Amino acid sequence: MFDYQAAFETAVEQVKGEGRYRVFADLKRVRGQFPKAIRRRADGSEQDVVVWCSNDYLGMGQHPVVLDAMKDEVDAAGAGAGGTRNISGTTRSAVDLEAELASWHRKEAALLFTSGYVANEATLTTLQRILPGLIIFSDSLNHASMIAGIRNGGCERHIFAHNDLEHLEALLAAAPADAPKLIAFESVYSMDGDIADLAGTIALAKKYGAMTYLDEVHAVGLYGPTGAGVAERDGLLDGIDIVECTLGKAIGVMGGYIAADAVIIDAVRSWASGFIFTTSLPPALTAGALASVRHLKAHPELRDAHQERAATLKARFVAAGIPVMESVSHIVPVFVGDPVHTKMISDMLLEQHGIYVQPINYPTVPKGTERLRFTPSPNHTDAMMDDLVQAMDALWTHCNVARLPAVA
Ligand SMILES: Cc1ncc(COP(=O)(O)O)c(C=O)c1O
Repeated sequence: MFDYQAAFETAVEQVKGEGRYRVFADLKRVRGQFPKAIRRRADGSEQDVVVWCSNDYLGMGQHPVVLDAMKDEVDAAGAGAGGTRNISGTTRSAVDLEAELASWHRKEAALLFTSGYVANEATLTTLQRILPGLIIFSDSLNHASMIAGIRNGGCERHIFAHNDLEHLEALLAAAPADAPKLIAFESVYSMDGDIADLAGTIALAKKYGAMTYLDEVHAVGLYGPTGAGVAERDGLLDGIDIVECTLGKAIGVMGGYIAADAVIIDAVRSWASGFIFTTSLPPALTAGALASVRHLKAHPELRDAHQERAATLKARFVAAGIPVMESVSHIVPVFVGDPVHTKMISDMLLEQHGIYVQPINYPTVPKGTERLRFTPSPNHTDAMMDDLVQAMDALWTHCNVARLPAVA
């Protein structure tokens, strides 16, 4: 008989053999304390930690405005949505949230999904059904959810070198002029912290008659005068045909969405399996996200504080000779270049200093570029930064990891 046990064990061993086995940090978040949290070790003992790798970029996951909205909505509407969107699950706060999101991105309509992953996967698959013969041009560093959606649809696809508009243009030029085309890319790439050339990509899309699909998951709430993302910052909201975002990072709750022309949203709403056949988000989540978005729109000083913290941490690492990778965004990646060292430094930061930063290894990043990825928020204090920089400095010496050459 088939040995199921052995098959699962082999699967785990394979991951371990490739250095990809993940150990999750067991964290108890404490309301009002972010970025502090309580970690439970494997033996059950607890440790106070400062989290340096959260995607709750602005601490909105614990903001009183969001919590109050969620608690009020639980009291008013209960726990679950009670159905799919079509069958009794279109709750008032979901409808209001979609309207708010659409206007934020200056689009006619928006559509909620249960996560940003599902939004990407479902939309990109569905576009291929709606647009027969569609050719998709996808940045080589696009997120797994975009890749899954593009692959699932089975259409012709071309991968262009990351942020390489010459390569993109060559691929576009080689495709039939009258074929439907879609350029799928991200604004902020969250592992390197670089930002795509939106204006250049939009210009190419116009020249070759392609649609643009932009993932602003790591930018929404964080860039632009009202936080609508890099497209807003660059004055290019109109040049993006479909924008996709999460409610789970800067907005601090959970869920995902797209925003676009009403006809596009209507078509995706009508065709996307991952939208149609699933229970809709609980009203408390959509109410919390709505309160969060309204707050973020009105508080640009949060975005200023966020950028200041990132710039300060980069400068402090550079001054200490810690090899910060080139990043033009709020992401602060530190190069280690070896999976064993990366894991070791991360373990020592955690156990010896109460500093939690997850090691980033292959396949999330290419082999040989393993790194630590810090995401300072406005809630990370100078004192926390002092502790971090001192600990990193000591570990860099202890582990004999390369420093920035120019700095003593
Ligand atoms: C670029 C990008 N797109 C989409 C997602 C998925 O969003 P969500 O976490 O809401 O599923 C992520 C990560 O979570 C991401 O990094």
